[in-house]
Amino acid sequence: MRERRHGSREGNVERNPSLRLFYALWPDEQTRLRLAALQAGITGRKVEAANLHLTLAFLGNQPRDSLALLEGVMQSLILNPFTLTIDEYGYFSKPRVVWAGPSSPPEAVISLQRALWQSLLDNGIPLEPVAGFRPHVTLARDAERLDREWENNVEWAVNTIALMASTSIPGGVRYQSVASRQF
Ligand code: 2AM
Repeated sequence: MRERRHGSREGNVERNPSLRLFYALWPDEQTRLRLAALQAGITGRKVEAANLHLTLAFLGNQPRDSLALLEGVMQSLILNPFTLTIDEYGYFSKPRVVWAGPSSPPEAVISLQRALWQSLLDNGIPLEPVAGFRPHVTLARDAERLDREWENNVEWAVNTIALMASTSIPGGVRYQSVASRQF
């Protein structure tokens, strides 16, 4: 993630009439390194360490005109720090994604996702319905199912939410922070 001051936008974020957006919990440096260590030996396309995150809501393409509203939604959330204990690997077989996440997601992350989603709906943001929220950090795509015992838990002191823009670049994806908030 390339940090940007709140409200500052540039590059593709500046020019594109619509942006592919998502909200995510973003790990601090130390947590990012611990999450990246979980990727050792995983097959497939590993997510770059700098891009590791936990998606709260994927918005897809949204008009640039919605950015102020989307930033406002984030700023209006009632946020309190909480800890996520990342203690298991998982596998989504259809997209062939290996992930790590909390085996028992705390109420704080569930209610945060719910409040965010509700606020987006209340503000008339068109959203694709999602079947259920399974908090996870994608570690690799196009990967084989991981057959490995879990070793060391990662205690993630969650305190940063970000509205991110995603653009395709040769050989991967680039995430830019449109706005972020510490809590
Ligand atoms: P993930 O959380 O399983 O990795 C940016 O693309 C983020 O939004 C990714 O973390 C991605 O999946 C998540 N996401 C959720 N739904 C998506 C979709 N339909 N297309 C692309 N990304 C999606």
